[in-house]
Amino acid sequence: MKVLIAGAAGRIGQVLCEGLAGRGHTVIGLDKVAVDSRHTRWHQVDCRDAAAVRSIFEIEQPEAVIHLAGHPGETSLPAALESHAITTLALLEASVAQRVRRFVYASSNHAVGYHPRTEVLPVDAPHRPDTFYGVSKVTAEALLSLYADRYGLSTIACRIGSFRSEPDSRRALSTWLSHADCVRMFDACLTASTTGFVVIYGISANSRAWWDLDPGRALGYLPQDDAEVFADRLPARPDDDAEAMHVGGLYATERTGRPAFDDAPNRGDRP
Ligand SMILES: NC(=O)c1ccc[n+]([C@@H]2O[C@H](COP(=O)([O-])OP(=O)(O)OC[C@H]3O[C@@H](n4cnc5c(N)ncnc54)[C@H](O)[C@@H]3O)[C@@H](O)[C@H]2O)c1
Repeated sequence: MKVLIAGAAGRIGQVLCEGLAGRGHTVIGLDKVAVDSRHTRWHQVDCRDAAAVRSIFEIEQPEAVIHLAGHPGETSLPAALESHAITTLALLEASVAQRVRRFVYASSNHAVGYHPRTEVLPVDAPHRPDTFYGVSKVTAEALLSLYADRYGLSTIACRIGSFRSEPDSRRALSTWLSHADCVRMFDACLTASTTGFVVIYGISANSRAWWDLDPGRALGYLPQDDAEVFADRLPARPDDDAEAMHVGGLYATERTGRPAFDDAPNRGDRP
């Protein structure tokens, strides 16, 4: 399948460019930064620029899109919406115009991060964002839903946990997504027989997982790795208890909060 990866220069993007090409896909890389790639056709574009995105789609005519472009952390709300909602809108518009068959989005557990960690969280639990970053992921998911309903575009949101080569905390024993499983998951999302808007959780087959993996399995994502094999190597940390309170870990604490607007004072400076 000819797949355009937006955000291809990033941590997940680099792993997917190589991994999906290794599985027989033709990969087109797109990012706001230039990359000297011998193996991937490359376009340097800011995904907030809808006209520039559309012209790349006219040239490349991808069959599928994987959207990873955006800042993977907390910012002000305007910056978060630019980074995640506006880029998603530009890529969805170009996808509809070029009759793309499948649109796969790197959403986040922070779209539901304020749910308490009590039992297995289903994909249809209400949105409960833990940050402005989480709000922007909720908005992007809503756009995927709208474009599926209005235009019949097949869209999948993968709520990724912690993409790492190895789990680096007690929380990550539950939220880890290994590099190999990440490739398996996006490959399944590209090739699954499905329609409409679908949400799955993007983690490995972790023994301590508290997210429902069945919707991913229904698409053909069969994770193979388990963070448990690293458990003995991870020392206890002072933040472990605070991280265990909510799905979003420390993002679901005021500590991660940022000013709502870029020019706003910090909360502590307000009268
Ligand atoms: N890494 C994780 O554990 C994790 C967890 C949940 C969700 N995600 C999501 O997955 C996606 C990729 O994450 P990552 O860890 O690879 O991040 P990353 O920062 O390593 O990569 C993001 C890439 O997007 C590019 N980019 C940013 N804004 C852009 C724009 N406007 N136009 C074009 N390119 C742009 C950057 O240059 C970068 O190469 C993000 O949307 C992130 O929110 C990541």
